[in-house]
Amino acid sequence: MSSLSPEVRAVLARLRQVADGPLSGATAMPPEMYHSEEILELEQQRMFAHDWVSPGLAAEIPEPGDYLTYSIADQPVFCMRGRDGEIRTLANVCRHRMMRLLDGSGNTGRIVCPYHAWSYDLDGRLAAANHMEATDGFDKADHCLPSIRTEVWNGWIYITLDPDALPVAELLEPLDDLVARYGIAHYVPVHRADHVWNTNWKFLTENFMEGYHLPVAHWATLGTWMPMDSVVFPDRRHPAFTYQLFAKDERSRYGRAHADNTSLDGEWRSTTVMPTVFPSHMYILAPDHLWYLSLRPRGTSQVDLRFGIAAAPEMYASLDDPEAWVAETVAFFADVCEEDRVVVEGIHRGSRAPLARPGPLSWLEHELHDLMGYLADRLA
Ligand code: FES
Ligand SMILES: [Fe+2]
Repeated sequence: MSSLSPEVRAVLARLRQVADGPLSGATAMPPEMYHSEEILELEQQRMFAHDWVSPGLAAEIPEPGDYLTYSIADQPVFCMRGRDGEIRTLANVCRHRMMRLLDGSGNTGRIVCPYHAWSYDLDGRLAAANHMEATDGFDKADHCLPSIRTEVWNGWIYITLDPDALPVAELLEPLDDLVARYGIAHYVPVHRADHVWNTNWKFLTENFMEGYHLPVAHWATLGTWMPMDSVVFPDRRHPAFTYQLFAKDERSRYGRAHADNTSLDGEWRSTTVMPTVFPSHMYILAPDHLWYLSLRPRGTSQVDLRFGIAAAPEMYASLDDPEAWVAETVAFFADVCEEDRVVVEGIHRGSRAPLARPGPLSWLEHELHDLMGYLADRLA
């Protein structure tokens, strides 16, 4: 804290004050929170390198040898399903001369470095390294890929660089009751894509969390399906997450349980839960589908976003033409995302203006206030 500039210290002190006050008196965060390099560095050190982040769903890598790449702070990693069925996360950097090992996602029987072909087993053990017989004391056992803490919770993969972070199940325990009833582990992943948008990661987090903009920014897609009077927020602030619940009626194209769904009762059949696990994992979990975002800052002015869609199993099983449904659904949510991109890039530019001032929040922006609490806990 002592190395921080007086300006950043003042911004964080003010953040603490607003976060600790009531939502009815809260304003949006000041522009410095989105544009300061110092704040970004603090976020990387104290949040992204310490808290749990999610590269995606365990069901996205169902078979031994399936992998997907990700990164935590500056550390490239990959999640790999082992021959024993376990998901492990390993450093995506070769133990020879530090080449990146894997890109994107796929399936492999062995991880072979594209530079000099050092080869690793699916659990990260170095299995082969050619022409090393004349190297003093060379022992393959000394050169395994470092592993990164990995836990699977309600179908999600979570990873952290912090060996002392509380287990995910403990941190998210109060969310378990809400989420477990949907059975995410059985949802069928149908789409995943990575994009880069020109905005600070927090503008996108805030945008995803609040429903206030839906009838306006999303009027052409899902905006009219949002009954504001059905919105429910947590009755207290939780340190590691926030959420909202809302209902969908028959006007809505998505959001209601299929007739074959036997696990959801009563109003749960048309209820969506929308958790945000701080700092950067958020999803819309509906009885018939889910879609998620997982964000990583790329400097102050860009964000790497991973976007995924999965279908509820009984709904998916009932489709006559699953490919057509997937194409249609992906196109629909791409339109929704494009509507969001326009606004989150717009507020990023707007917040740089000399006369930009953070304004008061609506009760529908409850989660923005919760995010401020989390940021104040970590940074202030
Ligand atoms: S850097 Fe990987 S084998 Fe040389
Ligand atoms: Fe949106």
